[in-house]
Amino acid sequence: MSLKDYWYIACESRELREKPLARVIMGEPVVVFRGPDGAPAVLNDRCAHRNMALSLGRVTDKGLQCGYHGWTYDAAGVCRFVPAQGEGARLPRIEVPRKPVCEQDGYVWTCLGAPVSVKPFGFPHLGEAGWTSFTMQNEFAGSPENCLENFLDCPHTVFVHKGWFRTPDTRQLSALVRRDDDSVEVRFQDEPISPSVVSWLLFPKGKELKHTDRFLLPSISRVDYVFGPDRHFIITSQCTPVSEHASRVYTVINYRFGSVGALVRLFFEPLCRRIIAQDVDILRDQSDNLKRFCGEKFAHLETDLLGLEIRRLRERAERGETAAPAPLEREVTIRF
Ligand code: FES
Ligand SMILES: [Fe+2]
Repeated sequence: MSLKDYWYIACESRELREKPLARVIMGEPVVVFRGPDGAPAVLNDRCAHRNMALSLGRVTDKGLQCGYHGWTYDAAGVCRFVPAQGEGARLPRIEVPRKPVCEQDGYVWTCLGAPVSVKPFGFPHLGEAGWTSFTMQNEFAGSPENCLENFLDCPHTVFVHKGWFRTPDTRQLSALVRRDDDSVEVRFQDEPISPSVVSWLLFPKGKELKHTDRFLLPSISRVDYVFGPDRHFIITSQCTPVSEHASRVYTVINYRFGSVGALVRLFFEPLCRRIIAQDVDILRDQSDNLKRFCGEKFAHLETDLLGLEIRRLRERAERGETAAPAPLEREVTIRF
């Protein structure tokens, strides 16, 4: 087992229409397309004939047709038609490797190896009554580890998103970090609400805030802000690894906001886009510097609450270690 045995999002369902899509996942080029029956399929993006990218071809009523000589493959990657041989010709078995595929929650998921689970990760509360959701897709010039750490890291918010999301606050609070075999989470206690555009617009006065940041294998971050029974914000990001310095991130923002949830989206969505664009920029700058120095050499302090744990869990998954790691629980004092 390795990180290749997990499900990753290849594309949004609505992006996948008549045209095949080229994607790279963990350095591997794949083509995503809908067969004549509308079901999604994922194949290696290389025609068995002269190795043309199949993503440059088109979908016909027989399957995915290569744009060079027209060899045509079905959803299982088997070549069913070679125009130069003519209709109905007996063909030797020629195939392009196919990948497992699953369409769920408005996304097409695939796996490069043998899937560790029957179904991909399910986005929390998506589609449930009373919840409003919207989605975003962003290309980050950063490794999955650096993206995921960023999504779950509070101290950067007062610098990168100053005034938008948080303003510097010297009050201390306590963070309880807990790790199990496939996730690690931090629960904040007595978190003060500092003035910002987000808190002014969305956070109700006088209600206790419950804030949790969570990482789940292989590359999912989930942030929850809960205020009493009827205000709950969840930001979940699935990070599809593209290459050492690139990730494609699919974010679902799902929230409950009393009876005016749909209206809240009018300003909440642009706000989220603005904040994520700031993270896209900072991750790109970090990557540029990592390239100048040919790699990472990170110092970690205990207030870097999840970065090391994310790396450790992913390294264990990559090595295929199945025994549960020693449980971890620690309390850290932190200021934002
Ligand atoms: S390269 Fe694909 S049909 Fe020839
Ligand atoms: Fe951020």
